[in-house]
Amino acid sequence: MNTIIKGGTLFTASETLKADIRIVDGKIDSIGRDLQAGQEDQVIDATGLYVLPGGVDAHVHLDLPMAGTVTADDHYTGTKAAAFGGTTFVIDFISQDTDNLDELVDAMVQKASQKAVVDFSFHMNITHLTPEVEKQIPELVKRGVTSVKVFTAYNHRLRLQDGEIFKVLRIARDAGILTMMHAENGDVIEILIKEALAAGNTSPLWHAKTRPAWGAEECVARGAALAATAGAPLYVVHMNAAGEVDQLKYARDLGLNIMGETCPQYLFFTEDDLAREDGAKFVCSPPIRTTADQNRIWEGLQEGIIQTISTDHCSFFFNGTKPILYEGKPVAIPGKELGKDDFTKIPNGLPGVGDRLPVMWNAMVSTGKFTINWFVELTSTNPAKIFGCYPQKGTLMPGADADITLWDPNEKVKYGQKVAQHRTDYNLYEGWTLKGFPVIVLSRGEVIVDHGRWLGHAGTGRFIQCKAFASAL
Ligand code: URP
Ligand code: ZN
Ligand code: ZN
Repeated sequence: MNTIIKGGTLFTASETLKADIRIVDGKIDSIGRDLQAGQEDQVIDATGLYVLPGGVDAHVHLDLPMAGTVTADDHYTGTKAAAFGGTTFVIDFISQDTDNLDELVDAMVQKASQKAVVDFSFHMNITHLTPEVEKQIPELVKRGVTSVKVFTAYNHRLRLQDGEIFKVLRIARDAGILTMMHAENGDVIEILIKEALAAGNTSPLWHAKTRPAWGAEECVARGAALAATAGAPLYVVHMNAAGEVDQLKYARDLGLNIMGETCPQYLFFTEDDLAREDGAKFVCSPPIRTTADQNRIWEGLQEGIIQTISTDHCSFFFNGTKPILYEGKPVAIPGKELGKDDFTKIPNGLPGVGDRLPVMWNAMVSTGKFTINWFVELTSTNPAKIFGCYPQKGTLMPGADADITLWDPNEKVKYGQKVAQHRTDYNLYEGWTLKGFPVIVLSRGEVIVDHGRWLGHAGTGRFIQCKAFASAL
């Protein structure tokens, strides 16, 4: 069955037009005025609605074991929540649990393919560098995995030393792979955590106090220096500190191919939230910081210093001993309560994949601070370009996948856990009134969300192979 979306206003990163969209075999076939529907065609009336490319969230963690438990959302529940929030393509991370990268890709693709309801791809974490692993990194391109993540923190677990990061950058450069960096100072964090615990400082606020912003700033500068020396592009993930934005600007002003991503939690919350009784809900790494940091990150977006808004979705229950009903069945997964006496045992991460577009629309578009085109650029087009899946994803044009989100700009929603579809027992935006909301969502031409109705099915999401040598923006 073909589909025509009629009467809407289309927004891409660069264009706004009143037009219809014809979808054939899951792809956009044509865009034009007054497209005529055949007898068999499904017609979606988009009168009064805005028609946007589905959101691209380039930073999610689904079904990830961590801190003695596992993330609350797997590839079904996480991608379902994404769809309800207007996001139709997510990029997850493969943990380097062994040194056989090919097998790791196979296992993750297989696991996600059984459950995902929107399309997905992967970045590969490089957390253990051996000569054998060095040889395998370029081979990832053949599998459609064209980005790797390195860490300057999580000592003795995920961290690479500077020389190793430099090696990865050079290998990745030659293969057309983009290196992503988690920028925090692991040595400083290790010392501060030991001291905090010894002094009996165990509350969630100490999560932020032991992960200082200077460490993040210094690591962005270090990452830029290593990337510049290697002649490689770099993408700094989850930017959270004012100084990081300053360092990114400095690097970009020098003409370096250094890009940055931020996430909604760093724009809306501060350490004051960590100091709340339920502060564990806000524990993520890197931590949420101060109003001054928020303001500088907003400037970073407005001034084009930061290129993307993703989520770092990594959800846990707040109280994983108390079941919630999910699709009619009780579910409880150990979560933040694991760290009730010790902040270092709180699983790090927040729900957000479904919240991202509605809360960012509310703060960017409804306030008039950003145009809709700009919103599309930061949340869909830029991540698709940077990670090598544009124009298949991230835009509306003939030949692109028909991943499309129809927004009602006038829809008012009292947001919170019940509206968001994450499989967890809390929502960071509980009680917020949002203006503008995604009402119809299509994944490769299939309507999977229709005004709050769920029409998706586990296993319909496909693994998308990203391309090497993608644009550095
Ligand atoms: O707290 C978070 N964000 N956990 C995910 C791990 C990471 O570094 O992105
Ligand atoms: Zn990270
Ligand atoms: Zn992450």
